[in-house]
Amino acid sequence: MKRLMNIITALATLTGTAVPTLAQPLYTLSGQPEERVLTMPRGERVRYRAYEGIPYVANVVDPEYQTLNFYVPEPAYDDNRSVPIFLKTNVGGYMAARAGAPSPTDATGRALQEGFIVVIPGSRGSNSTVEEPTGGKVYTGPAPAGIVDLKAAVRFLRHNDAVIPGDKERIITDGTSAGGAMSSLLGATGNHPAYEPYLREIGAADVRDDIFAAVCFCPITDLDHADMAYEWLYRTTNSGPRGLDGELAAVSDELAALYPAYLESLALTGPDSRPLTADNYMEYLKTFIISSAQAARNGGADMPADAGIVLNDGGRGRAGEFVVDIVMPDYLAYVARRQELKPPPAFDRLGVAGQEATAENRVFGDSGGNPSGFTDYSLRKSEGNPAAAISDGMRHRVRLMNPMNFIGDPAADTAPHWYIRHGAADRDTAFNVPVNLYTLLLNNGYDADFALAWNRGHTGDYDLDGLFDWIKERLARAGR
Ligand code: DHB
Repeated sequence: MKRLMNIITALATLTGTAVPTLAQPLYTLSGQPEERVLTMPRGERVRYRAYEGIPYVANVVDPEYQTLNFYVPEPAYDDNRSVPIFLKTNVGGYMAARAGAPSPTDATGRALQEGFIVVIPGSRGSNSTVEEPTGGKVYTGPAPAGIVDLKAAVRFLRHNDAVIPGDKERIITDGTSAGGAMSSLLGATGNHPAYEPYLREIGAADVRDDIFAAVCFCPITDLDHADMAYEWLYRTTNSGPRGLDGELAAVSDELAALYPAYLESLALTGPDSRPLTADNYMEYLKTFIISSAQAARNGGADMPADAGIVLNDGGRGRAGEFVVDIVMPDYLAYVARRQELKPPPAFDRLGVAGQEATAENRVFGDSGGNPSGFTDYSLRKSEGNPAAAISDGMRHRVRLMNPMNFIGDPAADTAPHWYIRHGAADRDTAFNVPVNLYTLLLNNGYDADFALAWNRGHTGDYDLDGLFDWIKERLARAGR
């Protein structure tokens, strides 16, 4: 690591006075790395070196967010070339995230303990702003800025392969919720030319940005179809626990009616290569919920009596060993009683029936901080104009935020390995969203592992034993 510092110092000196260029982003690591110790939940102590606050693009727009931190655990101090890199994004709510530090209670601490290099980049988002010289505020993070930044951070690592430790061909990304969506975009869109103009503009390194594996916890993604998926799934609760009024119930029905055509446009196939359609999709979804409940039952969990779970004890009791069926309207009502569902539209809500902007409306906003609609349906509703349509520019931005557009596109180098988890009681997006992502990956021949975590809400970085077993198995298969 002394050698690392020497090389970095030398490079910094070399480039210190030069104007940063695309081919050679300017980077410096000032001072010596700080030695730190992380105390894990069971008391183990993990020694590591911290390198923090490193700008990863040549043309920094927002110095608060366009930096990364990296951490080198003790086992890698001397031999660090073959160590995998665990890159976690702390993005939540499609907001900006600062470069972060490892935590003993999430996947970053565990990754350090496993001997992986940990990288936690910052990225711009819906709320990041810089002051203009004239005193005004400019929003720096309208979509797709967040994913562009994260791709630039991956490129920075690869560009600086000689001085930054870790195997750049074994980058594993991780994120939760909007961060899970970002991880899925990193996985889906490797090297895709559609992001190139944005990457050039910020002076990202001119190298590859594909990754080895994407870990996605409850990804809030497929935003342009997530409203219709949500209503298609949950509309049976509208007159029950959801209690929608007439106007919103009508919005729900209209959105739900749009979903079958979208689903069929995906041309997904389920087990036995059967095409998935709106007619058989609920049964398909049910198989994941049954597996989830069965895994919990095998682990000794009691099944809730009011969740539509049918056990082989002759009824909907709690004593049977096997989950033989789930009555979906009852299960969905159970989810809706645990946590109030989002009102329709769940994502593109701005101005529909007079409703306020969501996190998604904000990230699709403009540099003035004005939120925006991003689907034709909601724009038509909010403007009261049945012929309204989002602009081509908006359509392009929405496309760049959706991994579903890039899986199967020959111009993308999609990650070979995927680990996707979603809570079986998580109502932040419809189960259809992660299930379709998983199914599209499988249908395109990728190694994808998906499960619904029983009775779990909207959280991430759980079952770290399971996650790291999965990661190590993939690394071993790849001969690392
Ligand atoms: C997140 C949660 C949401 O419900 C949403 O719509 C977007 C982002 C989040 O937790 O990141």
